[in-house]
Amino acid sequence: MLNSKKLVLLCILTVFIYCLFVHNYIWKNTQLPSYATDFTTKRKIFPVFNFSSFVITKENDLINQYPPVFLPEYRNPCWLEDIHSAGVYLDNPYLHMSQSIQKEMIRLTTKWDKLLSKNNGTKLPQRLRCLPYFYIAGMPKSGTTDFYRRINTHPDIIKCQRKEPHWWTRIRFQELWRTNRSSFGHYIDLFDGAAEQIQKDKQHKKITSEASASTLWDNDFWTKLPGNANLSEPELLIANYIHHMTPKIKIIVILRNPADRLFSDYLYFGLYNKSLENFHHRVTESINMYEKCFKNETMRKCVYDRSLSLLSGVRLRIGLYWIYLQDWFSVFPKENFYIIKTEDYAKCLKCTFKKVYRFLGLPQLNRTNEAFMESIPKANTRRFKDTKMGKMWKETYELLEKFYQPHNERLVKLINKPDFDWFNL
Ligand SMILES: *[C@@H]1O[C@H](CO)[C@@H](O)[C@H](O)[C@H]1NC(C)=O
Ligand SMILES: *[C@@H]1O[C@H](CO)[C@@H](O)[C@H](O)[C@H]1NC(C)=O
Ligand SMILES: *[C@@H]1O[C@H](CO)[C@@H](O)[C@H](O)[C@H]1NC(C)=O
Ligand SMILES: *[C@@H]1O[C@H](CO)[C@@H](O)[C@H](O)[C@H]1NC(C)=O
Ligand SMILES: *[C@@H]1O[C@H](CO)[C@@H](O)[C@H](O)[C@H]1NC(C)=O
Ligand SMILES: *[C@@H]1O[C@H](CO)[C@@H](O)[C@H](O)[C@H]1NC(C)=O
Ligand SMILES: *[C@@H]1O[C@H](CO)[C@@H](O)[C@H](O)[C@H]1NC(C)=O
Repeated sequence: MLNSKKLVLLCILTVFIYCLFVHNYIWKNTQLPSYATDFTTKRKIFPVFNFSSFVITKENDLINQYPPVFLPEYRNPCWLEDIHSAGVYLDNPYLHMSQSIQKEMIRLTTKWDKLLSKNNGTKLPQRLRCLPYFYIAGMPKSGTTDFYRRINTHPDIIKCQRKEPHWWTRIRFQELWRTNRSSFGHYIDLFDGAAEQIQKDKQHKKITSEASASTLWDNDFWTKLPGNANLSEPELLIANYIHHMTPKIKIIVILRNPADRLFSDYLYFGLYNKSLENFHHRVTESINMYEKCFKNETMRKCVYDRSLSLLSGVRLRIGLYWIYLQDWFSVFPKENFYIIKTEDYAKCLKCTFKKVYRFLGLPQLNRTNEAFMESIPKANTRRFKDTKMGKMWKETYELLEKFYQPHNERLVKLINKPDFDWFNL
């Protein structure tokens, strides 16, 4: 039964969401932070975050918080939390980001409201809260979107409400649409729908995940974290934060020939007038900048240097895979990682997923589900306009090969997989 207080709450929520999305009220009337166009238009841009509006609070600097105590009967990391009010999603900044998130949050709000009225205020009802069992942690333009769509055909994997929350690396620190920053709770909200299904499953064997392609490499806010005060290189990384909250997660990483990755990245994210010549010019400049930095500083310092990355005309550093992985390996055991080569993945989807499901401890897909997995159209293929541009110049490729080769060798040694030596196959 609805009492008047709850009715008012529901009305407010409905009107709020109506204004927000049907009339686009807030988008029209709020000055958006520079990166917000990423969400509000179809255009892809480098997400440039407002570094000066960064705030770290007890809510988002999780290192000083106790991690949740997970329920042992669940395979996925989950716990129970009291519901004090149905309006738990009202200030969630992710509400602004997609219609499907809104719809799901309205549905759940109605559900919490029913639970609250049913139990008469004597004992609070609870909702199951979950964090990912595994992350698809990178890299951008290496097939993570395609992989994410297909892996979710598994009946035991439940999607969260947004493929790329980017919470750990970016959203956590940002003021969004002049509302409060996204707290840990807001991030967990994205898994409430999945948690519902995980709870329904009698054996509690279902799992959930997320696939922010920035997780593995983006630590641009490191200098602002109290744990890194006065350091010249970061000690505290995103990996440490995730480990602090969920020490047993599994991590899937997809890596592609770094030269091809870079070209694809340039085509996909670039707003500027793209051309093969422009790409060549940017690559040359960027390589010079990083080579110069490497002479004077540790490679690790250069890679985590935000100012250098902003000066660089292409996202060259993302291809230095071994540096990021080495840091992750210092936080999580190597067995928790499954590393996939984009080129192998593209050759055989079935073979890849067989191994991935084994790694995740899940049963294999049956025939029906496997056929469905294979029938999903490829995600994020190159746009026609960009296809017309053709391949990068041979000269550019050679420059990149020379730059990346020693790093690929480090990678091969680190992960003990000779076939990741892309330029010497
Ligand atoms: C960045 O944030 C600061 C502090 O909140 C604000 O004064 C400034 O206008 C913002 N800049 C942009 C480009 O949004
Ligand atoms: C609700 O609470 C009232 C008094 O507080 C009590 O009389 C009634 O039996 C309760 N109903 C249920 C379903 O618990
Ligand atoms: C932000 O959070 C503070 C403290 O939790 C609260 O008092 C304030 O009303 C919130 N502001 C907005 C815009 O939601
Ligand atoms: C960092 O340096 C500043 C200025 O030198 C100093 O006041 C502060 O205490 C230092 N912080 C830590 C954590 O060492
Ligand atoms: C792109 O090219 C057009 C026409 O050639 C020019 O007007 C525009 O200024 C260019 N934009 C940039 C960002 O260079
Ligand atoms: C090398 O690094 C030092 C200290 O960070 C800096 O002062 C100097 O300008 C750098 N030199 C070059 C050539 O970049
Ligand atoms: C495969 O599993 C799905 C449920 O995920 C089921 O609906 C379907 O009938 C199964 N197909 C076969 C051939 O077993």
